[in-house]
Parts: sequence; structure tokens; C-alpha cells
Amino acid sequence: PPSPARSDIATLDWPALREAVADCRACGLCESRRNTVFGVGHTEADWMIVGEAPGEQEDRQGEPFVGPAGQLLDAMLRACGRDRQAMDARGVFIANVLKCRPPANRNPAPEEVVQCEPFLSRQVALVRPKLIIAMGRFAVQSLLKTTEPIGRLRGRLHRYEGVPVIVTYHPAYLLRTPIDKAKAWADLCLAMEIDR
Ligand code: URA
Repeated sequence: PPSPARSDIATLDWPALREAVADCRACGLCESRRNTVFGVGHTEADWMIVGEAPGEQEDRQGEPFVGPAGQLLDAMLRACGRDRQAMDARGVFIANVLKCRPPANRNPAPEEVVQCEPFLSRQVALVRPKLIIAMGRFAVQSLLKTTEPIGRLRGRLHRYEGVPVIVTYHPAYLLRTPIDKAKAWADLCLAMEIDR
């Protein structure tokens, strides 16, 4: 079957959306990917985590945040009583702005983000989370349509399609810059406060 027009993505249910991502050829990343990375977790989770794009391990396994940054993310989530495997109130849905790996983990290109945005938008509409945690510059820029640095956006609430958004550092950045883990922890505390 032909892939859905970009505007039709907003009407797809979970199985059709999953299939549309798996079959997507809207940008050049489809040539180099091994697997698309749809997202994982509880589709009725209160929290949604949005990262940047699949890396090498994610591209191999077809699941988001399974490499070193993912181990840190899982530890951070566990500290908040959250678990990507939980299919109850402790659940979380984890997705990326891009569903395909950029070659050699280069930054997402603006046109790739534009092509992929309808998928994330539909995921948010289907999950209807109480809270989105945008991790890193690309998630923040894509969801909030701003180029303000994370340091100026964190610590307060933003909105994406009506859903409250908390901004924080990307776990891969935190692995390189552990001194900022304290700020990320404060951001997660704010998330827990909002979700109370
Ligand atoms: N970094 C991301 O932003 N997403 C992943 O899935 C893995 C690493």
C-alpha cells in the first residue's frame, strides 16, 4: 500500500502509525538505517520522554535509548519511580524526534526533523501524557519551536499541543558533563512535583 500522506499521519491508530514509521521513505535516512526506532513503553503513560535520534545501538535493536545514554536515562527514571517496562502508573513512553539514525550520529538536519515531526506529534496525541520531558537541544527545538538554550528554558513549564513540557539536558550530554547532573535531577524533581 502507498505510505500515508504527511497530513494523514494525524489520523492513524497505533498499528497504522507503527507501520507508517517502519515503511517511511520521506527523507534520505531511510537509505542508511538498519531499523526504524518507533518508540517504546506504555502507550497510556503519564510521562513521555522525547530524545533526539537513534544511535548505533538503537539502530541495531530498533529500540530507543538502549546504549550508554539509555542506561543513564533508565537510572534517572528509576530514581523517579518510573520504568520503561512498566505497563501501569509507573510506565513511561520513550520516543525520539527522528525515527531513523543519522549516519555516524551527526546532528539531525532541519528537513529530516520536518519530515519526521508528524510521527512524534501523533504519538503525543495518542499517548496524551500528563507531562513531556524534552531531553536535549533537538527535542526542545522541535517541540517548542525555539532556539533558546536549555539553560534558559529549564526550571519552568512549557507546552506542546496543550501538554506541559519540562526541558532538561540530554543524558549523552550528562555523560560528558557530569557536573550538570545536579540540574537534571532538579528538573526531574520538578516533573515529579507537576505530576503529583
Ligand atoms: N540518544 C537519543 O536521543 N535517543 C536514543 O534513542 C539514543 C540516544
